[in-house]
Amino acid sequence: MAQSATYRLANGVQIPVLGFGTILPAGPVTEQAVATAVKAGYRLFDTAAAYHNESSVGRGLQAALNSGQVTRGELFMSGKVWYQQRSYQATKQSFAETLAKLQLDYLDLYLIHWPANARWHQNWQALNAETWRALEDLYHAGQVRAIGVSNFSVAQLQALQTTATVLPQVNQIEYHPDFAQVAIAEYCQQHEIVVEAWRPFGGPESSVMQAPVIRQLAALYQKQPAQIILRWLLQKQIIPLPKSSNPAHAASNTEIFDFELTAAEMLQLDQLNRGTTSYDPETYHS
Ligand SMILES: NC(=O)c1ccc[n+]([C@@H]2O[C@H](COP(=O)([O-])OP(=O)(O)OC[C@H]3O[C@@H](n4cnc5c(N)ncnc54)[C@H](OP(=O)(O)O)[C@@H]3O)[C@@H](O)[C@H]2O)c1
Repeated sequence: MAQSATYRLANGVQIPVLGFGTILPAGPVTEQAVATAVKAGYRLFDTAAAYHNESSVGRGLQAALNSGQVTRGELFMSGKVWYQQRSYQATKQSFAETLAKLQLDYLDLYLIHWPANARWHQNWQALNAETWRALEDLYHAGQVRAIGVSNFSVAQLQALQTTATVLPQVNQIEYHPDFAQVAIAEYCQQHEIVVEAWRPFGGPESSVMQAPVIRQLAALYQKQPAQIILRWLLQKQIIPLPKSSNPAHAASNTEIFDFELTAAEMLQLDQLNRGTTSYDPETYHS
C-alpha cells in the first residue's frame, strides 16, 4: 500500500487511506500547514465549521491549486456541520458557508460533527434524522460526493439507519492506542462504513507517544512513535487524521507505508487501551 492508496466507500467513491487534520489557529499557521501538507502528499483534508479556520484552510488550498501541484479532482475535501447548526435549514446554510469559506463548489465528504444524544435530547433520534435529511439532499443535489457522521455510537447509527434513505458512508470517531473504540469500528466495518480516527496521538493529556511498547517498536523499526501509531491504525483499515503545524512532522507522518507491524505487535498496542474518554457519544454535551 502506498500513500496514494484509497478505500472504496459504499457508493464507489474512493477515499485516501491517510488524511490531514486541521484543528489549527486561523491565519498563516493554518494556511501554511495546509499548503505544506499538499506538498507532502496529503490529499484528504478534515475540516469543520467548529474549527473557525475554514477561510484559512481555503487560502492554503488555493495556494496549492494555483501553484499547479494538485488539481481539485485529486483532493478529497471533508467538512462537518456543528451541533449548533443541527436541523434541516441550518445545516444547509452551514454547508453553503463552508463551501464559500473553503472557496470550493463541492465537498467530497460532509459529516454530522456530533450526534444529538439521549442524555441531553428527548427527541435525539428525530434531531439526528432531520440533520441527516439535509445531508441526503446535498448529496442528491451533487454538492457533496459522500456523506457520513462523526462520533456516532452503534445505537445512534442504528437509529439513523431506520430513517435514512442514504446510509452513512463514514464514521469519524476518537481512536488512538489509549482509547480505541473497537466495538464501534467493528460495527462500522461490518456495515460498509469507513472509519476515520480523530486525535490519533491522544491529545494534550495523553502520554501515549512515551509508552514503552511504542518506543521499543519505534527503535526496532527505526521509526518515530507517531509513525508506529499511524501504522497501527492503517493496519486496522482506519483512516488516521494527524495534524501538525511542523512541516517535518507533517512529512514524517506520511512515512508509514514502508514497514509492517506483526500481529503480535498489533496486539501489544491494542493492550494500551484504557477504555475511557471525556467524549462519550452517549453522554457528551452536544
Ligand atoms: N470529529 C471530531 O469530533 C474531532 C475531534 C478532534 C479532532 N478531530 C480531527 O482530528 C485531527 C487530529 O486531532 P488533533 O488535532 O486533536 O491532534 P493529533 O493529530 O492527535 O495531535 C496533534 C499533536 O501531535 C503533534 N504531532 C504531530 N505529528 C507529530 C510527530 N510526528 N511527532 C511528534 N508530535 C507530533 C502536534 O504537534 P506539532 O504541530 O508540533 O507537530 C500536535 O501537538 C484534528 O485536527 C481534526 O481534524 C476531529
